[in-house]
Amino acid sequence: MNIAIINGPNLNFLGIRESDIYGTATLEQLNDFITQNAPPSTKLTFFQSNHEGALIDFLQECHYNDCEAIVINPGALTHYSYALRDAISATNLPCIEVHLSNIHAREDFRKKSVTAAVCIAQICGLNAMGYILAIQALKDLKPWGPAPTPPPL
Ligand code: DQA
Repeated sequence: MNIAIINGPNLNFLGIRESDIYGTATLEQLNDFITQNAPPSTKLTFFQSNHEGALIDFLQECHYNDCEAIVINPGALTHYSYALRDAISATNLPCIEVHLSNIHAREDFRKKSVTAAVCIAQICGLNAMGYILAIQALKDLKPWGPAPTPPPL
């Protein structure tokens, strides 16, 4: 399965920025960890940008190339970028939003995600492990399909 791993603004600064929140690993080390721990038969493509437009361009490419699913950590764009939200939705690909930190236990502005609603799920607070769980879930989702709609009350 081909999965794109996308990281947004300032995630290239992992290892430098707020290590008490994000840990000491660099983005390269994070990507190595993901590669080493991803389930077998996953082909991963990594992309990071500090620019909203570049992230949108990459998401649109995901629609056209052989990408089958997306794991995205949109960084601070999570909290306000309707353009990124529309781009995720427009890919028509299953997507899981990941955050290294628990965004719900931090400042109020981080508690809101405008992108999570167009993702299958949001995983936060598990650091690098969140990416692995997201990949695993996207792989298993194929045979399992969507969660059943609950019956009307
Ligand atoms: C983050 C959380 C965001 O609020 C923040 O702006 C980031 C990183 C995380 O992975 O915990 O850049 O997405």
